[in-house]
Amino acid sequence: MSVLITNIAELTTNGQERSAAPDPAAAPTGFAAVTDAALVIEQGRVAWTGPASRAPAADEMVDAEGRAVLPGFVDSHAHLVFAGERGAEFAARMAGQPYRAGGIRSTVAATRQATDGQLRANLRRLAAEMLAQGITTFECKSGYGLTVGDEERSVAIAAEVTHEVTYLGAHVVPPEFDGDPAGYVDLVCGAMLDACAPHARWVDVFCEQGAFGRDEAAAVLAAGMAAGLQARVHANQLTAGPGVQLAVEVGAASADHCSNLTDADVEALATSATAATLLPGVEFSTRHPYPDARRLLDAGATVALATDCNPGSCFTSSMPLCIALAVREMHMTTQEAVWAATAGGARALRRTDVGHLGVGARADLVMIDGPSHAYLAYRPGVPLVVGVWRAGERLAGGERLAGG
Ligand code: NIG
Ligand code: FE
Repeated sequence: MSVLITNIAELTTNGQERSAAPDPAAAPTGFAAVTDAALVIEQGRVAWTGPASRAPAADEMVDAEGRAVLPGFVDSHAHLVFAGERGAEFAARMAGQPYRAGGIRSTVAATRQATDGQLRANLRRLAAEMLAQGITTFECKSGYGLTVGDEERSVAIAAEVTHEVTYLGAHVVPPEFDGDPAGYVDLVCGAMLDACAPHARWVDVFCEQGAFGRDEAAAVLAAGMAAGLQARVHANQLTAGPGVQLAVEVGAASADHCSNLTDADVEALATSATAATLLPGVEFSTRHPYPDARRLLDAGATVALATDCNPGSCFTSSMPLCIALAVREMHMTTQEAVWAATAGGARALRRTDVGHLGVGARADLVMIDGPSHAYLAYRPGVPLVVGVWRAGERLAGGERLAGG
């Protein structure tokens, strides 16, 4: 069955207009859009895009009524397996308390006490929230269990809802290893990794003062990679530490946060295949200075935007909010921000089937109630997503479209 979506005021394709199946060499390189456009979906994939006046016939038609259509958002960084909440910590922060990595431990305590069913229900609620706001691919980390059993169930539960599962046993050193961080790193690289690797695609480490230093982080990444996982790193969030250099050295897909960078860090990112994933919701929610996106973009680095949805440093599941912050606070153009939230996220996950709407891409689409992608930043805080398709199937928002 084919579906034609027509009367699209602006169709963001991200520049991959090839008829071949997705291929890494053809990864999208920049924002691109077609105005007065149409798109055809067949067997869950994009079969055709172009001017509405030249659209082929299809079995079914959806009238976009002059709205914009974009690739589904790709959220390459989220921590969704947890229990409890930290609203009081947020309120205290807004009243002047600093954010510290140690707050993670309160979520660890709540997560260990939760049943599998409670963790699963919380995860599914957040995943549904993301989907309703246009996120059609998301990464999900463990990291609030920090025992072999709790990390294993975290990655297993995450794997029920996404292929992009990340083992983050090295989030912080848990209280039972106070005074013995080396013992905890051994566990993360040994029995905990053995239990988690079968459920995960990625290994991550929080390389930061108060979490893990360079050598510890390097050991975690090396062990994870030896077990067949690919690397990504929480790097340079609170201080200009060694995380970015380490990420680039090991060929990580992404260095995430990048809020405190030296010139050498920017240069390393600009000359490598490691994406710089920026998480402006964190700076919004911690009142820290935003990362210098312009410096990265102007140097030629690949920039991705992600939510970092987690109960501590940033409890938003809204990519439109992140886009609006990136534009308003980080001086990204609307095109750069939308590219970073779609194709950039796909790069950070080393995916070529999502993040763009070239022929052959997975038909993951977002329709917004406005004529251009710019509305995502121009109308901040407004629920603009009126339609979401994943692999060609309409999943959310149909009720808000007349005749949709
Ligand atoms: O990405 N930086 C480390 N991890 C999370 C914070 C998690 C928390 O505060 O619970 C982050 O910001
Ligand atoms: Fe994070």
